[in-house]
Amino acid sequence: MKIQPFKVEEWMNAHETQARYNIAETCVDSVSLEELFRLTNTDDTAFWQNFRKKRLTYGDIKGSPEFRQGICGLYRTLKTENIVPTHGAAGANHHVFYSLIEPGDEVISIMPTYQQLYSIPESLGAKVKILNLTAENGYHVDLQALKELVTEHTRMICINNPNNPTGALMTEKELTDIVKIACEADAWILCDEVYRHLTQRDDWCPSIADLYKKGISVSSMSKVFSLAGLRLGWIATRDMNAIRSFLSHRDYNLISCGMLDEAIAGIALSDAENILKRNRQIVRTNLAILDQWVNTQTHVSYVKPEAGTTALVYYDLNIPSRAFCEEMFHRTGAFVTPGECFELEHCMRIGYACDTATLRAGLAAVDEYIALKEKEEQV
Ligand SMILES: Cc1ncc(COP(=O)(O)O)c(C=O)c1O
Repeated sequence: MKIQPFKVEEWMNAHETQARYNIAETCVDSVSLEELFRLTNTDDTAFWQNFRKKRLTYGDIKGSPEFRQGICGLYRTLKTENIVPTHGAAGANHHVFYSLIEPGDEVISIMPTYQQLYSIPESLGAKVKILNLTAENGYHVDLQALKELVTEHTRMICINNPNNPTGALMTEKELTDIVKIACEADAWILCDEVYRHLTQRDDWCPSIADLYKKGISVSSMSKVFSLAGLRLGWIATRDMNAIRSFLSHRDYNLISCGMLDEAIAGIALSDAENILKRNRQIVRTNLAILDQWVNTQTHVSYVKPEAGTTALVYYDLNIPSRAFCEEMFHRTGAFVTPGECFELEHCMRIGYACDTATLRAGLAAVDEYIALKEKEEQV
């Protein structure tokens, strides 16, 4: 099976371990087990004493009840049988396409977004139609344009809410309008919701799985719970035919997710509100810092993110985004992601949910690079 290189992941793989100021990361500042136990008031010793005696079997094949119950708490209408644990959201997205999409199927996907949402269906032989999100529209879905793309052959519409890289957040009304369009074609909606609940205001963030029977929500422990190292995610839907298909395919490529990872995720989910409180505070404090920087750095501009952990920032220097980001990385240590990874130019994605000191130092290093380029242009 041929597949396009995953641009954003290749970029991260090549640079992130050597980055001086990593403002490319999309997870909210990761936590250690020690911090997790402290945040959730878990008795560390008791946990290990209990776990160390457990035989390391495959565990609960469909995922531990505590883990799946914890996930249900993030939705309004779901029960444990609606949840399928996977290896991260990356595993979940892949699994949804692999289970439901066949050669020749029509799939609509937004752009920009996480590349899985268009490159995997394409690799499976689907006919992928792209719906471009534009700055003029605040990177929200143009419903008329979506309607025009949908046909009776449309099998799935792929969206990402909140959006990576733009930080746009769809309202419940927008989501239900998309549901109406999908309903007419009896199409699934796959909504990648890995940044859901990372909001700038305290409003509930609706999920596609609560709003639409054929809505498939994908998420994970990585971004919202700062636990990417668990490599644990899930698919959530009320469509039991889809669930049966996921479980059947899962016997071939996964079996189960791992007892220790699920036990640790269960701890985080049992006190989700506390972790969310910490993480919302980080994204809110840091977005204010980023916003102030964008407003004072005269060479950059953006549509301010509404949620999530990332922003798409345009610059006015005449340098392609990959060259800009490579050179900046080597000369000043600022590590961001080139717009080219999202098929866009003269822009970069900044991940602002790192620790605040790194964000400040990273933005100062971007300033330093822009000043260097300005000086060189004048010579
Ligand atoms: C939109 C989106 N989906 C999925 C993923 C993969 O997440 P995970 O670590 O859960 O596999 C990412 C990671 O950057 C992402 O941004």
